[in-house]
Amino acid sequence: MTSPLRAQFIPVEIWPDDRGVHINAHGGGVLFHGGRYYWFGEHKIAGAAGNAAHVGVHAYSSTDLYNWKDEGIALAVSDDPGSDIVRECVIERPKVIFHPGSGRFIMWFHLEMKGQGYQAARVGVAVAEQPAGHYTFLHSFRPNAGYWPDNATAAQKAALADPAAMAALDTLKFNGGDNPEVPQLPVLARDFAGGQMARDMTLFVDDDGAAYHLCASEENSTLHISRLRDDFLATSGRYVRVFENRWHEAPAVCKHGGRYWMISSGCTGWAPNPARSAVADSIWGPWTELGNPAVGVNPQNGLGPEQTFGGQSTFLLPVQGQKDAFIALFDLWRPQDAIDGRHLWLPVRFTPDRITVEWRDRWDLRVFAGAM
Ligand code: DGJ
Repeated sequence: MTSPLRAQFIPVEIWPDDRGVHINAHGGGVLFHGGRYYWFGEHKIAGAAGNAAHVGVHAYSSTDLYNWKDEGIALAVSDDPGSDIVRECVIERPKVIFHPGSGRFIMWFHLEMKGQGYQAARVGVAVAEQPAGHYTFLHSFRPNAGYWPDNATAAQKAALADPAAMAALDTLKFNGGDNPEVPQLPVLARDFAGGQMARDMTLFVDDDGAAYHLCASEENSTLHISRLRDDFLATSGRYVRVFENRWHEAPAVCKHGGRYWMISSGCTGWAPNPARSAVADSIWGPWTELGNPAVGVNPQNGLGPEQTFGGQSTFLLPVQGQKDAFIALFDLWRPQDAIDGRHLWLPVRFTPDRITVEWRDRWDLRVFAGAM
């Protein structure tokens, strides 16, 4: 069965693809290439089991952003028990960028190893010759092993000189949420040799072609922003710590008016919390927090800014051909039935010192011309 053509975004409702099936691309990102948008996201299955990766990363394509063609599984999980991406690992927040030098498409994602909860905190990288795939898994790792961030303090570096303290820290377990313990401990030094933790992530390519990885690190307490190597297949070793001990997750970034804008979330598992926003003149910071960008109430669940309409940020999408038009993508997670997670796409509005995302029951791209 094919779906009737759509000409609107209707946040939270089932969003059928060209076959009439709810789009299965959660925690996603969108690449524009060769006149088409490609939407990549986590393919979820039904039930709570669907929070792990049973299938892989699903791709869809579109020319108008409303109607999406199912392009199939771009990156498939493996049946090899020795593979990092063996079925039932965790693959989250996949993002794809184009590497002009090689002509290849590079996918990065947050990877957790099967059966290890969220302790591995790695990135996975896969490559393809065509935008929709198939992608070949290349490697997984923790970023920036053996490098200090540009803004590391002498005290943070000195912690390395106490191997006993490091070993003791290794035995502690953290729950990934805001807690007073992590800020007291030298987590950055603990992970210096093996690489820094990398959970919720996004990628960003700047106007000069340099690419960056932004992720929740240090037990989720602090974001790391890393420049990628010129081949986009690994981090370069140049990185900074930002929003120290602010417990940001779900970073999404765009560039507008020569400045860098971020929407992110707090750190409460699958449950929604107040969105956050920030602006910077350089991707390296300093970043200035601007507060909650959400405005209005989602009448379907009665949730407003305090719970970000029930959603969590995942991407800031530049609309092609419309100057200064961006769409904020949020996921409304359904962890008990992961496949039923909803896509909440809303228009972004900028003022000189704020970024806002206002609730709309239905809307279309004419909103950016001031028509709605
Ligand atoms: C919040 C993150 O943003 C999601 O991507 C996912 O990792 C959940 N936490 C898991 O609880």
